[in-house]
Amino acid sequence: MNNMNPTTLDLFTDAEPEQQPRRDRIGEQSCVLRGFALPWLDRLLPALETVLAAAPFRQMVTPGGFIMSVALSSCGTWGWTTDRSGYRYTRDDPQTGRPWPDMPEVFFQLAQAAAREAGFTDFVPDSCLINRYVPGAKMSLHQDKDEKSYAAPIVSVSLGLPAMFLFGGFTRSEKSQRVPLLHGDIVVWGGVDRLRYHGVLPIKDGQHACLGEQRINFTFRRAG
Ligand code: SIN
Ligand code: FE2
Repeated sequence: MNNMNPTTLDLFTDAEPEQQPRRDRIGEQSCVLRGFALPWLDRLLPALETVLAAAPFRQMVTPGGFIMSVALSSCGTWGWTTDRSGYRYTRDDPQTGRPWPDMPEVFFQLAQAAAREAGFTDFVPDSCLINRYVPGAKMSLHQDKDEKSYAAPIVSVSLGLPAMFLFGGFTRSEKSQRVPLLHGDIVVWGGVDRLRYHGVLPIKDGQHACLGEQRINFTFRRAG
């Protein structure tokens, strides 16, 4: 009784992407907000330049003695650092000896809007870690657990080259989901998912129209 001819079916299929939810659920209290940061870029990128002028990207050493392939900076009250003696949040940038740059208002507003969209009201980030990946750079599976409390979510903004984000379980060995992330996507995880392992596979070669040969990630947290 199916009188749909192939043409009709094609039309139906073609219509689907329009109706795809812009929010992909990846866990009970975690999701990807597709393209959420795009309308903010005009304000976000100049603010990023200002932050980086005061606290340039640098590569840090892990307690195990490895140089991270990702270059880091921070803004906000607390910045995340690592060296041979461990991981920690600091009020001052160890490279300049000055306090980390203030978190630009547009950073704060975007983080809060994304958290709200993901179901976390009243997110007040006091730290934004800025990660720079060049092709080949990666981040191994880890948990974000240097924060004083795990009550607040993590809001993670992707810009520039695409990445394959790994979203795992509560042990390192649990199988991870592979979540492709594009320029403008925001991942939010919190609540029961707050301590899930996550990481990023090596970034593939490429040129991004807006950011060139790199991926920039902002990770907003409530650290103190
Ligand atoms: C992080 O876990 O700090 C970074 C995640 C990402 O780059 O997407
Ligand atoms: Fe992380």
